[in-house]
Amino acid sequence: MHRLELIGIKKCFPDKTAVHTTDLCLENGIYGLLGENGAGKTTLMRMICGILTPTEGQVRCDRIDIRQMGASYRRLLGYLPQDFGYYGDFSALRFLNYMAALKALPQKYATERIQELLELVGLKAEQKRHLRTYSGGMLRRIGIAQALLNDPGILILDEPTAGLDPGERVRFRNIISSLGRDRIVLLSTHIVSDVNYIADQILIMKDGKIIRKGTERGLAASLDQIVWTCRVPENFVDKFTDRFIVSNIKYCGSEVELRIVSGKQPTLDSTAQEASLEDIYLYLTQRRTEE
Ligand SMILES: Nc1ncnc2c1ncn2[C@@H]1O[C@H](COP(=O)(O)OP(=O)(O)OP(=O)(O)O)[C@@H](O)[C@H]1O
Ligand SMILES: [Mg+2]
Repeated sequence: MHRLELIGIKKCFPDKTAVHTTDLCLENGIYGLLGENGAGKTTLMRMICGILTPTEGQVRCDRIDIRQMGASYRRLLGYLPQDFGYYGDFSALRFLNYMAALKALPQKYATERIQELLELVGLKAEQKRHLRTYSGGMLRRIGIAQALLNDPGILILDEPTAGLDPGERVRFRNIISSLGRDRIVLLSTHIVSDVNYIADQILIMKDGKIIRKGTERGLAASLDQIVWTCRVPENFVDKFTDRFIVSNIKYCGSEVELRIVSGKQPTLDSTAQEASLEDIYLYLTQRRTEE
């Protein structure tokens, strides 16, 4: 069991602070890192992987600065980058062998491990096909397989579900949920449903800061009433969408039922509803500052 600590890490680019001072401690389990485009997810993950050096602060693994650990940290780490590249002319099998060689894995171990992983990601039968002929979902699964080659104690997946269809998303979730039992899995996305079933902890990131951390229940309990439904005439819809975060609009004859995410009761006859993780995420990331 490993312990990964971010101690006051911050990343400044010449014209932008991408990650503001952040402290975080991760132990075995699945962590869903949720945030809008540009929130700082990739920058945070690249610092965890040692690809980017923090402007300030330290990433520590089992109490040692990862910069001092060098190769021993890389052996612990599996990473699927957001812009994962592959060679179209390679078969899946050849690609995984190539990645295993880059990771300096012993040949005999690699041969067995690759078959195990192809089985896990459901691509055993397709291992000889060129990657060029793979669908987006199949490529993502190969991306996970390469990140798992060294059986990492720390697995970092940057938007692994981007561009997948619903069936592929479910398959992906099932693969990932089996991995969190004995390792740290940190997975970024801006799609709430990708993480709300499988993540043990949700991290919500906004403007370079992790603004909340907790379970779905814990996050809901930390907020007052934030979800309401009300019925309004159809021609009022624009007024409400201008003023509030409207997370759903359902047409019912000449009226519409609105689901509104707001810290204040939007109309006197609105009824309070239980907040889902999506509501919480919308509330924390989209609400206007005056609320
Ligand atoms: N190498 C860089 N040089 C300058 N600015 C950068 C660099 N990398 C990232 N940024 C900026 O830092 C901010 C955070 O970017 P980052 O890629 O970490 O966000 P993200 O949450 O991963 O977004 P997305 O969901 O689009 O992948 C953005 O404003 C981005 O433009
Ligand atoms: Mg990113």
